[in-house]
Amino acid sequence: MEIILREPALPIIRTRRLVIRDIEVKDISPEYVAWLNNPEVNKFLEVRFVEQTHRSVEDYIIAKLKDTRSSKHFGVYDKGGERLIGTVTLPSIKWKHLSSDLSFVIGHPDAQGKGYATEAVHGVAYYCFKHCGLVKLWAGYYDGHTGSAKVLAKNGFKEEGRLVKELVDYTGKRVDHVLVGLLADDFVPDEKLLGSGA
Ligand SMILES: CC(C)(COP(=O)(O)OP(=O)(O)OC[C@H]1O[C@@H](n2cnc3c(N)ncnc32)[C@H](O)[C@@H]1OP(=O)(O)O)[C@@H](O)C(=O)NCCC(=O)NCCS
Repeated sequence: MEIILREPALPIIRTRRLVIRDIEVKDISPEYVAWLNNPEVNKFLEVRFVEQTHRSVEDYIIAKLKDTRSSKHFGVYDKGGERLIGTVTLPSIKWKHLSSDLSFVIGHPDAQGKGYATEAVHGVAYYCFKHCGLVKLWAGYYDGHTGSAKVLAKNGFKEEGRLVKELVDYTGKRVDHVLVGLLADDFVPDEKLLGSGA
């Protein structure tokens, strides 16, 4: 585990197999835009409601690079930090409350099912609690989305509530919005995910 702080830019977080850092305009690959539009990837994401283009992704990335305080949009890279395979985002940090929501995607088809989402969320949670001083992280997912539920549970997030039938899923069915949370005191760094030195 290594964290290179670079404020005001996002840090570089190295976990066992991944590099987690900002996404620069040069990192926006056709694969990245494609997976945002891929119904298999975006069916549980709000991004599915708006067709993405290189231009719209670039505008979003530039806005995120300009303000790394109120939100943090991390790219997740494998292959020694070369290939962008996903993102972990703190969309709206509440500094007055030292809390934030968290969301994640491992969108590159070759990168799913390898434990990368679990590892990337662990690395970002470590950074949030140990370096940013955040005390609470929470996330929400569509009821029945086993992948998200497992990634969050493996990171120690516990169900805290649900907004009954708050969301419409990709089949048109109303489903619960499950809310899970994790306190800094309950976070247990795992060297198997972070690599040695955590
Ligand atoms: C869901 C997602 C993040 C999982 O990423 P991943 O890197 O493949 O996840 P991991 O390999 O860390 O898997 C963790 C566990 O979840 C399980 N899992 C992952 N995706 C799953 C799926 N689609 N269905 C059922 N189980 C799944 C894995 O089998 C593993 O279980 P195990 O520990 O019992 O073996 C990824 O497929 C994705 O980004 N999907 C689209 C976007 C999305 O839904 N994001 C979450 C929004 S809250």
